[in-house]
Amino acid sequence: MKPVYITTPIYYPNGRPHLGSAYTTIVADFLARLYRALGIPSRFVTGTDEHGEKLERKAREQGKTPKEFVDEMAAEFREAWKKLLVEPDRFIRTTDPDHIETVKKVLEALREGGHIYKGKYEGLYCVGCERYYSEGELVEGKCPFHLKEPEHKSIDAYFFRMSAFRDRLLEFYRGNPKFLPPGRKEEILNRVKELQDLCISRPKEQLTWGVEFPFDPEHVTYVWVDALFNYLTASNGAWPPDIQLMGKDIMWFHCVIWPSLLMATGYELPKREVVHGFINVDGSKMSKSLGNVIDPLELAEEYGADFVRYLLIAKVPFRDDGNIVRDELEKIYRELAGSIGNLANRVLRLMEGVRSTEFRRDPAVFGEIEKFRKELEKQLRELNIEKVLDIYGQGIQRIAHRLNSYINEREPWKLDGAERDEAVLNAYRGLVELMKLAAPMLVEGARKFFKVAGDGKPGETRLILYPPKSGIKSS
Ligand code: MSP
Repeated sequence: MKPVYITTPIYYPNGRPHLGSAYTTIVADFLARLYRALGIPSRFVTGTDEHGEKLERKAREQGKTPKEFVDEMAAEFREAWKKLLVEPDRFIRTTDPDHIETVKKVLEALREGGHIYKGKYEGLYCVGCERYYSEGELVEGKCPFHLKEPEHKSIDAYFFRMSAFRDRLLEFYRGNPKFLPPGRKEEILNRVKELQDLCISRPKEQLTWGVEFPFDPEHVTYVWVDALFNYLTASNGAWPPDIQLMGKDIMWFHCVIWPSLLMATGYELPKREVVHGFINVDGSKMSKSLGNVIDPLELAEEYGADFVRYLLIAKVPFRDDGNIVRDELEKIYRELAGSIGNLANRVLRLMEGVRSTEFRRDPAVFGEIEKFRKELEKQLRELNIEKVLDIYGQGIQRIAHRLNSYINEREPWKLDGAERDEAVLNAYRGLVELMKLAAPMLVEGARKFFKVAGDGKPGETRLILYPPKSGIKSS
């Protein structure tokens, strides 16, 4: 069976990973683990987008060659993901030799198919986005994302006849209603109607840091064309992608440019482009000047990687923009410690002195768990990722709650012998099931738990998963 192929955008390594890139990457890692937890193989790939003007300039500013600079930064990204317990099946870099081969092969295929022509390009270019803007797309003459005036450029360039794919794209969207992200279809469809050709090269005098055109060494590949095909290079038999995650700012590249390029080169198209909103902090876009930047690594240092994953997966809405309130972080940590952390601690302690391992499964415990697992599996198989993220956090909390109330109702401390064992074993085995379902999010906690948990009985009965933080009052 082909694994479910999950991708994140590959990040510009011009700065350290931030909360935005951590968000997409943690969600992707979580999904890959969740598929596997339910017995469905998955392949998850992330990486760095290392070519282009932005990187070249940044390297020069630091007195480094582009290669030296991206080598250092790519290492930082790998390290950061490790700290956040993100484990991709491949970390792809666009400077990897096999990727450069892919890009050259793709350019040859575009040329052979008659999809490329040479022309002149004049326009307004935002280096931050690595793309041209039309006047109409600017806000007060500035790039809407970087709030900087774009640069005027006029260059000899190769063009991809993207406009020729307009009808095929529209037909594809109609035949594959899940491809485009729900709630954002209209916006894309309206713009596709005016689809233009795409400039896919930069002259050598403007940019040297990129993949050279195989049939014209005076030109270098446009970074976005280079970057998008990372998904092909990294596929390793899992093609086509099933789930491609991204923030709303790069939807156009993935929903329009990407499928047109694939149609032109004859590859099967991805199943779903899954778009999430932006995360704000204290109600505003994160910015250094506002001083509201949350560094995901500092957060992990302070509260642990599981907390960062919990916050981003269970506490931030997926499709719409989310907001993190810094003053609430401690409360959210206490919520995690007080529900799942406390439950694990409580149930393991109750297992002390339990002699038997045999028990009858009580539907009061397992009913809810089974229902949730079935629902998750259904949504995952249908690639309803927005739905999965809507129901997951609450589902996990609901089960933790159920188990806690089950213990409170049965009061095993008032029972004896077989009756006591029966109640405690139900709670314990329910907890084992809960931790299996929570493991894709709470990677570290689950690892600790399963170190002591056994099929019949735990090896130890003392375990504190999320200890109180200094300065944080336990509730
Ligand atoms: N290199 C391109 C992607 C090429 S993929 C073929 C790129 N890189 S990036 O480093 O700018 O990517 C940033 C990713 O983080 C995007 O998915 C973007 O939407 C996401 N986010 C950046 N800031 C964000 C928030 N504040 N909140 C959530 N995600 C945001 O684009």
